[in-house]
Amino acid sequence: MSNSTHPNVKTRALFNKAKQYIPYGVNSNFRYWGDEHTPIMQRGSGAYVWDADDNRFIDYRLGFGPIILGHAYPEVNQRVTDAIQNGVLFAATTPVEIELAERFTRMTGMDKVRLSNTGTEANMHALRIARAYTGREKFIKFEGNYHGNFDYVMFSGPTARAELLGPRQHPHRLRATEGMPVAIRNYMISLPYNDVEMLERTMVEHGEELAAVVLEPIMGNVACILPDPLWLQRVRELCDEFGVVLIFDEVKTGFRLANGGAQQYFGVKADLAAYAKAMGNGFPVSAVAGRDEIMRVVEPGHVAHGGTYCGNVVAATAAAATLEILETRPILASIFEQGRILMDGIDAILTRAGVPHAISGVPSMFSVLLGKDTPPVDYRSYCEFDAEAFGLLGAALIENGILVDDDPREPWFVSYSHDAAVIGDTLNIVEDAVKSVFGASANKPNLRRAA
Ligand SMILES: Cc1ncc(COP(=O)(O)O)c(C=O)c1O
Repeated sequence: MSNSTHPNVKTRALFNKAKQYIPYGVNSNFRYWGDEHTPIMQRGSGAYVWDADDNRFIDYRLGFGPIILGHAYPEVNQRVTDAIQNGVLFAATTPVEIELAERFTRMTGMDKVRLSNTGTEANMHALRIARAYTGREKFIKFEGNYHGNFDYVMFSGPTARAELLGPRQHPHRLRATEGMPVAIRNYMISLPYNDVEMLERTMVEHGEELAAVVLEPIMGNVACILPDPLWLQRVRELCDEFGVVLIFDEVKTGFRLANGGAQQYFGVKADLAAYAKAMGNGFPVSAVAGRDEIMRVVEPGHVAHGGTYCGNVVAATAAAATLEILETRPILASIFEQGRILMDGIDAILTRAGVPHAISGVPSMFSVLLGKDTPPVDYRSYCEFDAEAFGLLGAALIENGILVDDDPREPWFVSYSHDAAVIGDTLNIVEDAVKSVFGASANKPNLRRAA
Protein backbone atom coordinates (compact mmCIF):
# COMPACT_ATOMS: atom_id res chain seq x y z
CA MET A 1 0.00 0.00 0.00
CA SER A 2 2.19 2.69 -1.30
CA ASN A 3 0.83 6.15 -0.64
CA SER A 4 1.94 9.58 0.32
CA THR A 5 1.44 9.34 4.06
CA HIS A 6 2.48 5.82 4.98
CA PRO A 7 6.06 4.68 5.07
CA ASN A 8 6.45 1.86 2.57
CA VAL A 9 10.18 1.23 2.19
CA LYS A 10 10.09 -2.29 3.62
CA THR A 11 6.95 -3.23 1.73
CA ARG A 12 8.40 -2.19 -1.61
CA ALA A 13 11.72 -3.92 -0.93
CA LEU A 14 9.95 -7.13 0.05
CA PHE A 15 7.66 -6.96 -2.96
CA ASN A 16 10.61 -6.53 -5.32
CA LYS A 17 12.20 -9.59 -3.78
CA ALA A 18 8.92 -11.52 -4.03
CA LYS A 19 8.76 -10.79 -7.74
CA GLN A 20 12.13 -12.43 -8.28
CA TYR A 21 10.74 -15.80 -7.16
CA ILE A 22 6.94 -15.64 -7.38
CA PRO A 23 5.05 -14.65 -10.55
CA TYR A 24 3.73 -11.11 -9.92
CA GLY A 25 4.99 -11.46 -6.34
CA VAL A 26 1.73 -13.04 -5.15
CA ASN A 27 0.43 -16.56 -4.61
CA SER A 28 -3.09 -15.74 -5.82
CA ASN A 29 -3.70 -13.39 -8.74
CA PHE A 30 -6.43 -11.49 -6.86
CA ARG A 31 -3.79 -10.15 -4.45
CA TYR A 32 -1.84 -8.27 -7.09
CA TRP A 33 -2.68 -4.55 -6.92
CA GLY A 34 0.02 -3.37 -9.32
CA ASP A 35 3.75 -3.01 -8.72
CA GLU A 36 3.34 0.13 -6.62
CA HIS A 37 0.37 -0.86 -4.47
CA THR A 38 0.49 -4.59 -3.77
CA PRO A 39 0.37 -4.92 0.02
CA ILE A 40 2.56 -7.13 2.16
CA MET A 41 1.04 -7.91 5.53
CA GLN A 42 2.98 -9.06 8.53
CA ARG A 43 0.36 -9.58 11.24
CA GLY A 44 -3.24 -9.23 12.31
CA SER A 45 -5.10 -9.01 15.61
CA GLY A 46 -8.85 -8.60 16.07
CA ALA A 47 -10.13 -6.02 13.58
CA TYR A 48 -6.65 -4.78 12.65
CA VAL A 49 -3.80 -5.73 10.32
CA TRP A 50 -0.30 -4.30 10.08
CA ASP A 51 1.72 -4.15 6.88
CA ALA A 52 5.43 -4.79 6.52
CA ASP A 53 6.15 -1.14 7.42
CA ASP A 54 4.02 -1.46 10.55
CA ASN A 55 1.19 0.72 9.23
CA ARG A 56 -2.04 -0.27 10.98
CA PHE A 57 -5.34 -0.69 9.15
CA ILE A 58 -8.88 -1.51 10.22
CA ASP A 59 -9.45 -4.55 8.06
CA TYR A 60 -12.64 -4.98 6.02
CA ARG A 61 -11.13 -7.46 3.57
CA LEU A 62 -10.71 -10.10 6.27
CA GLY A 63 -8.76 -12.42 4.03
CA PHE A 64 -11.56 -12.26 1.39
CA GLY A 65 -14.13 -13.12 4.04
CA PRO A 66 -13.05 -15.99 6.29
CA ILE A 67 -12.14 -14.01 9.41
CA ILE A 68 -15.52 -14.08 11.17
CA LEU A 69 -14.33 -13.72 14.77
CA GLY A 70 -11.25 -11.55 14.28
CA HIS A 71 -7.62 -12.04 13.31
CA ALA A 72 -5.62 -14.41 15.53
CA TYR A 73 -8.71 -15.10 17.64
CA PRO A 74 -7.22 -16.45 20.88
CA GLU A 75 -9.66 -19.30 21.61
CA VAL A 76 -9.38 -20.74 18.10
CA ASN A 77 -5.60 -20.36 18.00
CA GLN A 78 -5.20 -21.93 21.43
CA ARG A 79 -7.22 -24.97 20.50
CA VAL A 80 -5.25 -25.47 17.30
CA THR A 81 -1.93 -24.94 19.09
CA ASP A 82 -2.87 -27.54 21.71
CA ALA A 83 -4.06 -30.02 19.10
CA ILE A 84 -0.97 -29.93 16.89
CA GLN A 85 1.24 -31.01 19.79
CA ASN A 86 -0.18 -34.47 19.14
CA GLY A 87 0.39 -34.55 15.38
CA VAL A 88 -1.51 -33.17 12.42
CA LEU A 89 -2.10 -35.94 9.90
CA PHE A 90 -2.73 -39.66 10.25
CA ALA A 91 -4.38 -40.90 7.03
CA ALA A 92 -7.22 -41.86 9.34
CA THR A 93 -10.28 -40.22 10.90
CA THR A 94 -9.67 -38.32 14.13
CA PRO A 95 -12.20 -37.67 16.93
CA VAL A 96 -12.28 -33.93 16.20
CA GLU A 97 -13.59 -34.59 12.67
CA ILE A 98 -16.54 -36.43 14.18
CA GLU A 99 -17.18 -33.69 16.74
CA LEU A 100 -17.10 -31.15 13.90
CA ALA A 101 -19.40 -33.16 11.62
CA GLU A 102 -22.01 -33.49 14.37
CA ARG A 103 -22.02 -29.75 15.10
CA PHE A 104 -21.81 -28.79 11.42
CA THR A 105 -24.83 -30.85 10.42
CA ARG A 106 -26.83 -29.57 13.39
CA MET A 107 -26.04 -25.94 12.53
CA THR A 108 -26.57 -26.18 8.77
CA GLY A 109 -29.47 -28.62 8.74
CA MET A 110 -27.59 -30.77 6.21
CA ASP A 111 -27.66 -34.56 6.69
CA LYS A 112 -24.08 -35.44 5.80
CA VAL A 113 -20.80 -33.58 5.34
CA ARG A 114 -17.36 -34.26 3.86
CA LEU A 115 -14.39 -31.99 4.60
CA SER A 116 -11.82 -30.56 2.21
CA ASN A 117 -9.48 -27.58 2.22
CA THR A 118 -10.65 -24.86 -0.17
CA GLY A 119 -13.90 -23.51 -1.54
CA THR A 120 -12.81 -24.64 -4.98
CA GLU A 121 -12.56 -28.25 -3.87
CA ALA A 122 -15.93 -28.17 -2.12
CA ASN A 123 -17.69 -26.85 -5.24
CA MET A 124 -15.85 -29.27 -7.48
CA HIS A 125 -17.01 -32.16 -5.34
CA ALA A 126 -20.57 -30.82 -5.19
CA LEU A 127 -20.78 -30.74 -8.98
CA ARG A 128 -19.35 -34.23 -9.30
CA ILE A 129 -21.75 -35.61 -6.71
CA ALA A 130 -24.70 -33.95 -8.49
CA ARG A 131 -23.62 -35.43 -11.81
CA ALA A 132 -23.23 -38.89 -10.35
CA TYR A 133 -26.57 -38.69 -8.54
CA THR A 134 -28.54 -37.57 -11.59
CA GLY A 135 -26.55 -39.36 -14.29
CA ARG A 136 -26.56 -36.04 -16.20
CA GLU A 137 -23.66 -33.79 -17.16
CA LYS A 138 -24.79 -30.21 -17.82
CA PHE A 139 -25.47 -27.46 -15.32
CA ILE A 140 -26.68 -23.87 -15.07
CA LYS A 141 -24.42 -21.18 -13.67
CA PHE A 142 -25.20 -17.46 -13.32
CA GLU A 143 -23.29 -14.50 -14.75
CA GLY A 144 -20.91 -12.95 -12.24
CA ASN A 145 -21.07 -15.91 -9.86
CA TYR A 146 -17.68 -17.32 -8.84
CA HIS A 147 -17.33 -20.89 -7.68
CA GLY A 148 -13.57 -21.26 -7.49
CA ASN A 149 -10.59 -21.95 -9.63
CA PHE A 150 -11.57 -25.14 -11.49
CA ASP A 151 -12.26 -25.31 -15.19
CA TYR A 152 -15.92 -26.35 -15.37
CA VAL A 153 -17.18 -23.19 -13.64
CA MET A 154 -14.77 -20.59 -14.97
CA PHE A 155 -17.11 -18.90 -17.41
CA SER A 156 -18.76 -15.47 -17.33
CA GLY A 157 -17.56 -14.83 -13.79
CA PRO A 158 -16.95 -11.61 -11.88
CA THR A 159 -14.17 -10.47 -14.22
CA ALA A 160 -16.12 -10.89 -17.46
CA ARG A 161 -16.14 -7.82 -19.69
CA ALA A 162 -19.66 -6.46 -19.87
CA GLU A 163 -19.47 -5.69 -23.58
CA LEU A 164 -18.64 -9.32 -24.35
CA LEU A 165 -21.49 -10.94 -22.41
CA GLY A 166 -23.66 -11.08 -25.50
CA PRO A 167 -27.44 -10.64 -25.81
CA ARG A 168 -29.31 -11.05 -22.54
CA GLN A 169 -31.61 -13.67 -24.10
CA HIS A 170 -28.60 -15.68 -25.35
CA PRO A 171 -25.65 -14.99 -23.05
CA HIS A 172 -22.17 -15.92 -24.22
CA ARG A 173 -20.07 -18.23 -22.08
CA LEU A 174 -16.89 -16.23 -21.59
CA ARG A 175 -13.78 -18.09 -20.54
CA ALA A 176 -12.29 -16.59 -17.38
CA THR A 177 -8.83 -17.94 -18.08
CA GLU A 178 -6.64 -19.23 -20.82
CA GLY A 179 -5.33 -22.74 -20.47
CA MET A 180 -8.61 -24.61 -20.28
CA PRO A 181 -10.25 -26.60 -23.05
CA VAL A 182 -12.79 -24.53 -24.98
CA ALA A 183 -15.08 -27.54 -25.37
CA ILE A 184 -15.99 -27.76 -21.71
CA ARG A 185 -18.13 -24.68 -22.12
CA ASN A 186 -20.65 -27.04 -23.68
CA TYR A 187 -21.37 -28.48 -20.25
CA MET A 188 -22.67 -25.23 -18.83
CA ILE A 189 -25.47 -22.81 -19.53
CA SER A 190 -24.94 -19.22 -18.50
CA LEU A 191 -27.90 -17.15 -17.31
CA PRO A 192 -28.37 -13.68 -15.80
CA TYR A 193 -28.98 -13.78 -12.00
CA ASN A 194 -32.49 -12.99 -10.72
CA ASP A 195 -34.18 -13.49 -14.11
CA VAL A 196 -37.23 -15.72 -13.59
CA GLU A 197 -38.32 -15.70 -17.21
CA MET A 198 -34.94 -16.80 -18.59
CA LEU A 199 -34.68 -19.46 -15.92
CA GLU A 200 -38.13 -20.87 -16.67
CA ARG A 201 -37.48 -20.91 -20.40
CA THR A 202 -34.12 -22.64 -19.98
CA MET A 203 -35.47 -25.24 -17.57
CA VAL A 204 -38.28 -26.11 -19.96
CA GLU A 205 -35.77 -26.48 -22.82
CA HIS A 206 -32.91 -28.18 -20.97
CA GLY A 207 -34.19 -29.26 -17.53
CA GLU A 208 -33.96 -32.95 -18.31
CA GLU A 209 -30.31 -32.74 -19.33
CA LEU A 210 -29.26 -30.85 -16.21
CA ALA A 211 -27.41 -32.31 -13.26
CA ALA A 212 -27.36 -29.09 -11.27
CA VAL A 213 -28.18 -25.45 -10.89
CA VAL A 214 -25.30 -23.88 -8.99
CA LEU A 215 -25.55 -20.40 -7.51
CA GLU A 216 -24.15 -17.99 -4.96
CA PRO A 217 -27.14 -17.12 -2.74
CA ILE A 218 -25.68 -13.60 -2.41
CA MET A 219 -23.32 -12.55 -5.19
CA GLY A 220 -20.32 -12.46 -2.90
CA ASN A 221 -17.94 -11.65 -5.72
CA VAL A 222 -20.05 -8.97 -7.38
CA ALA A 223 -21.10 -6.30 -4.93
CA CYS A 224 -23.22 -8.54 -2.68
CA ILE A 225 -26.14 -8.48 -5.10
CA LEU A 226 -29.11 -10.00 -3.28
CA PRO A 227 -31.34 -12.72 -4.67
CA ASP A 228 -34.90 -11.76 -5.45
CA PRO A 229 -36.89 -14.00 -3.05
CA LEU A 230 -39.32 -15.00 -5.80
CA TRP A 231 -36.48 -15.98 -8.12
CA LEU A 232 -34.79 -18.05 -5.43
CA GLN A 233 -38.05 -19.80 -4.63
CA ARG A 234 -38.63 -20.46 -8.34
CA VAL A 235 -35.14 -21.95 -8.71
CA ARG A 236 -36.03 -24.38 -5.93
CA GLU A 237 -39.39 -25.30 -7.49
CA LEU A 238 -37.96 -25.80 -10.98
CA CYS A 239 -35.12 -27.98 -9.68
CA ASP A 240 -37.72 -30.16 -7.98
CA GLU A 241 -39.86 -30.28 -11.10
CA PHE A 242 -37.01 -31.39 -13.38
CA GLY A 243 -35.08 -33.56 -10.90
CA VAL A 244 -32.10 -31.18 -10.89
CA VAL A 245 -29.78 -30.89 -7.88
CA LEU A 246 -29.77 -27.37 -6.41
CA ILE A 247 -26.27 -26.46 -5.24
CA PHE A 248 -25.77 -23.37 -3.09
CA ASP A 249 -22.23 -22.09 -3.07
CA GLU A 250 -22.15 -20.93 0.54
CA VAL A 251 -18.39 -20.35 0.52
CA LYS A 252 -18.87 -16.69 1.42
CA THR A 253 -22.36 -16.81 2.97
CA GLY A 254 -22.00 -19.94 5.14
CA PHE A 255 -21.70 -19.13 8.86
CA ARG A 256 -21.71 -15.40 7.93
CA LEU A 257 -25.40 -14.79 7.16
CA ALA A 258 -26.69 -17.14 9.84
CA ASN A 259 -25.48 -20.30 11.54
CA GLY A 260 -27.50 -22.12 8.88
CA GLY A 261 -26.06 -19.89 6.15
CA ALA A 262 -28.01 -18.33 3.30
CA GLN A 263 -30.42 -21.25 3.36
CA GLN A 264 -31.59 -20.28 6.83
CA TYR A 265 -31.41 -16.56 6.08
CA PHE A 266 -33.53 -16.76 2.92
CA GLY A 267 -35.61 -19.77 3.92
CA VAL A 268 -34.73 -21.82 0.82
CA LYS A 269 -33.10 -25.21 1.20
CA ALA A 270 -30.46 -26.49 -1.21
CA ASP A 271 -29.83 -30.16 -1.97
CA LEU A 272 -26.06 -29.73 -1.73
CA ALA A 273 -23.95 -26.84 -0.53
CA ALA A 274 -20.29 -25.89 -0.54
CA TYR A 275 -18.88 -24.19 2.57
CA ALA A 276 -15.44 -22.77 3.41
CA LYS A 277 -14.22 -19.34 4.58
CA ALA A 278 -16.03 -18.42 7.83
CA MET A 279 -16.19 -22.01 9.05
CA GLY A 280 -12.49 -21.91 9.99
CA ASN A 281 -11.88 -18.25 10.90
CA GLY A 282 -9.07 -18.14 8.34
CA PHE A 283 -7.71 -21.67 8.63
CA PRO A 284 -7.96 -23.56 5.33
CA VAL A 285 -11.00 -25.78 5.64
CA SER A 286 -14.04 -26.44 3.46
CA ALA A 287 -16.92 -28.85 3.16
CA VAL A 288 -19.49 -30.24 0.81
CA ALA A 289 -22.72 -31.15 2.56
CA GLY A 290 -26.19 -32.22 1.57
CA ARG A 291 -29.12 -34.52 1.69
CA ASP A 292 -28.33 -38.04 2.76
CA GLU A 293 -29.80 -39.58 -0.37
CA ILE A 294 -27.46 -37.52 -2.57
CA MET A 295 -24.35 -37.64 -0.41
CA ARG A 296 -24.71 -41.43 -0.36
CA VAL A 297 -23.24 -41.62 -3.90
CA VAL A 298 -19.87 -40.83 -2.33
CA GLU A 299 -18.42 -44.23 -1.71
CA PRO A 300 -15.25 -46.11 -2.56
CA GLY A 301 -15.31 -47.30 -6.15
CA HIS A 302 -18.19 -45.03 -7.14
CA VAL A 303 -17.82 -41.28 -6.65
CA ALA A 304 -14.33 -40.13 -5.76
CA HIS A 305 -14.00 -37.72 -2.89
CA GLY A 306 -10.80 -37.30 -0.95
CA GLY A 307 -7.41 -35.79 -0.51
CA THR A 308 -4.37 -36.13 1.69
CA TYR A 309 -5.32 -33.12 3.79
CA CYS A 310 -9.11 -33.49 3.90
CA GLY A 311 -10.09 -33.27 7.58
CA ASN A 312 -6.52 -32.69 8.80
CA VAL A 313 -6.15 -31.86 12.48
CA VAL A 314 -5.36 -28.17 11.98
CA ALA A 315 -8.37 -27.53 9.75
CA ALA A 316 -10.83 -29.71 11.65
CA THR A 317 -9.80 -28.28 15.03
CA ALA A 318 -10.01 -24.69 13.81
CA ALA A 319 -13.48 -25.35 12.40
CA ALA A 320 -14.63 -27.21 15.52
CA ALA A 321 -13.52 -24.26 17.69
CA THR A 322 -14.99 -21.61 15.39
CA LEU A 323 -18.35 -23.32 15.03
CA GLU A 324 -18.58 -23.98 18.77
CA ILE A 325 -18.17 -20.25 19.40
CA LEU A 326 -20.69 -19.36 16.70
CA GLU A 327 -23.23 -21.87 17.96
CA THR A 328 -23.02 -21.08 21.64
CA ARG A 329 -22.80 -17.27 21.61
CA PRO A 330 -24.73 -14.53 19.78
CA ILE A 331 -21.77 -13.72 17.53
CA LEU A 332 -23.63 -13.16 14.28
CA ALA A 333 -26.28 -11.04 16.03
CA SER A 334 -23.52 -8.76 17.26
CA ILE A 335 -21.84 -8.62 13.82
CA PHE A 336 -25.18 -7.73 12.25
CA GLU A 337 -25.78 -5.00 14.81
CA GLN A 338 -22.42 -3.31 14.22
CA GLY A 339 -22.51 -3.96 10.48
CA ARG A 340 -25.92 -2.29 10.27
CA ILE A 341 -24.54 0.83 11.99
CA LEU A 342 -21.67 0.86 9.49
CA MET A 343 -23.90 0.39 6.43
CA ASP A 344 -26.37 3.04 7.56
CA GLY A 345 -23.55 5.40 8.50
CA ILE A 346 -21.87 5.13 5.10
CA ASP A 347 -25.23 5.58 3.43
CA ALA A 348 -25.88 8.78 5.42
CA ILE A 349 -22.40 10.18 4.69
CA LEU A 350 -22.75 9.64 0.95
CA THR A 351 -26.27 11.07 0.97
CA ARG A 352 -25.10 14.21 2.83
CA ALA A 353 -22.28 14.60 0.31
CA GLY A 354 -24.73 14.33 -2.60
CA VAL A 355 -22.95 11.29 -4.03
CA PRO A 356 -25.27 8.94 -5.96
CA HIS A 357 -24.79 5.51 -4.45
CA ALA A 358 -26.30 2.14 -3.60
CA ILE A 359 -25.37 -0.15 -0.73
CA SER A 360 -26.17 -3.78 -1.34
CA GLY A 361 -25.85 -6.90 0.75
CA VAL A 362 -26.36 -7.65 4.44
CA PRO A 363 -24.63 -6.14 7.48
CA SER A 364 -21.99 -8.89 7.75
CA MET A 365 -21.00 -8.50 4.07
CA PHE A 366 -22.02 -5.59 1.90
CA SER A 367 -20.79 -3.40 -0.92
CA VAL A 368 -20.74 0.31 -1.58
CA LEU A 369 -21.43 1.29 -5.18
CA LEU A 370 -21.18 4.77 -6.63
CA GLY A 371 -22.76 6.51 -9.60
CA LYS A 372 -26.37 5.26 -9.39
CA ASP A 373 -29.06 5.02 -6.73
CA THR A 374 -30.76 1.74 -7.60
CA PRO A 375 -29.06 -1.40 -6.29
CA PRO A 376 -27.92 -3.82 -9.01
CA VAL A 377 -29.88 -7.04 -9.59
CA ASP A 378 -27.41 -8.88 -11.79
CA TYR A 379 -23.90 -8.66 -13.22
CA ARG A 380 -24.99 -6.54 -16.17
CA SER A 381 -26.61 -3.90 -13.95
CA TYR A 382 -23.55 -3.90 -11.65
CA CYS A 383 -21.44 -2.91 -14.67
CA GLU A 384 -23.39 0.37 -14.93
CA PHE A 385 -21.86 1.65 -11.67
CA ASP A 386 -18.77 3.82 -11.51
CA ALA A 387 -16.03 1.44 -10.39
CA GLU A 388 -13.38 4.06 -11.00
CA ALA A 389 -15.03 6.49 -8.55
CA PHE A 390 -15.11 3.78 -5.90
CA GLY A 391 -11.44 3.15 -6.63
CA LEU A 392 -10.69 6.79 -5.74
CA LEU A 393 -12.63 6.50 -2.50
CA GLY A 394 -11.01 3.15 -1.73
CA ALA A 395 -7.54 4.63 -2.21
CA ALA A 396 -8.38 7.52 0.16
CA LEU A 397 -9.71 5.08 2.76
CA ILE A 398 -6.60 2.95 2.56
CA GLU A 399 -4.43 6.03 2.89
CA ASN A 400 -6.26 6.83 6.10
CA GLY A 401 -6.09 3.40 7.64
CA ILE A 402 -9.22 1.60 6.42
CA LEU A 403 -8.38 -1.50 4.43
CA VAL A 404 -11.04 -2.19 1.81
CA ASP A 405 -10.67 -3.63 -1.62
CA ASP A 406 -10.51 -0.73 -4.00
CA ASP A 407 -12.63 -2.85 -6.34
CA PRO A 408 -16.34 -2.45 -5.45
CA ARG A 409 -17.14 -6.01 -6.46
CA GLU A 410 -15.42 -7.35 -3.37
CA PRO A 411 -17.53 -6.96 -0.22
CA TRP A 412 -16.74 -5.13 2.98
CA PHE A 413 -16.65 -7.95 5.53
CA VAL A 414 -17.37 -7.35 9.22
CA SER A 415 -16.08 -9.55 12.04
CA TYR A 416 -17.01 -9.96 15.72
CA SER A 417 -13.92 -7.89 16.57
CA HIS A 418 -15.34 -4.85 14.75
CA ASP A 419 -16.87 -3.39 17.89
CA ALA A 420 -18.64 -0.05 18.35
CA ALA A 421 -15.35 1.84 18.76
CA VAL A 422 -13.90 0.37 15.55
CA ILE A 423 -17.08 1.16 13.63
CA GLY A 424 -17.12 4.72 15.02
CA ASP A 425 -13.49 5.27 13.96
CA THR A 426 -14.30 3.86 10.54
CA LEU A 427 -17.23 6.21 10.00
CA ASN A 428 -15.14 9.26 10.95
CA ILE A 429 -12.52 8.27 8.39
CA VAL A 430 -15.15 7.52 5.74
CA GLU A 431 -16.68 10.98 6.31
CA ASP A 432 -13.30 12.69 5.78
CA ALA A 433 -12.42 10.54 2.79
CA VAL A 434 -15.76 11.23 1.06
CA LYS A 435 -15.25 14.97 1.60
CA SER A 436 -11.70 14.90 0.29
CA VAL A 437 -12.54 12.80 -2.79
CA PHE A 438 -15.97 14.11 -3.75
CA GLY A 439 -15.92 17.57 -2.17
CA ALA A 440 -15.24 19.12 -5.53
CA SER A 441 -18.25 18.48 -7.76
CA ALA A 442 -15.97 17.71 -10.71
CA ASN A 443 -15.11 14.43 -9.01
CA LYS A 444 -18.69 13.30 -8.42
CA PRO A 445 -19.22 9.75 -9.62
CA ASN A 446 -21.28 9.48 -12.73
CA LEU A 447 -22.24 7.14 -15.48
CA ARG A 448 -19.78 8.49 -18.00
CA ARG A 449 -16.99 6.59 -16.30
CA ALA A 450 -19.02 3.45 -15.72
CA ALA A 451 -17.21 0.25 -16.75
C1 LIG B 1 -18.50 -17.94 -3.64
C2 LIG B 1 -17.13 -18.54 -3.75
N1 LIG B 1 -17.01 -19.82 -4.12
C3 LIG B 1 -15.82 -20.42 -4.21
C4 LIG B 1 -14.66 -19.73 -3.92
C5 LIG B 1 -13.34 -20.42 -4.02
O1 LIG B 1 -12.83 -20.64 -2.74
P1 LIG B 1 -11.26 -20.89 -2.55
O2 LIG B 1 -10.59 -19.61 -2.93
O3 LIG B 1 -11.12 -21.23 -1.10
O4 LIG B 1 -10.89 -22.01 -3.43
C6 LIG B 1 -14.74 -18.39 -3.53
C7 LIG B 1 -13.52 -17.63 -3.23
O5 LIG B 1 -13.54 -16.44 -3.02
C8 LIG B 1 -16.00 -17.78 -3.44
O6 LIG B 1 -16.14 -16.51 -3.09
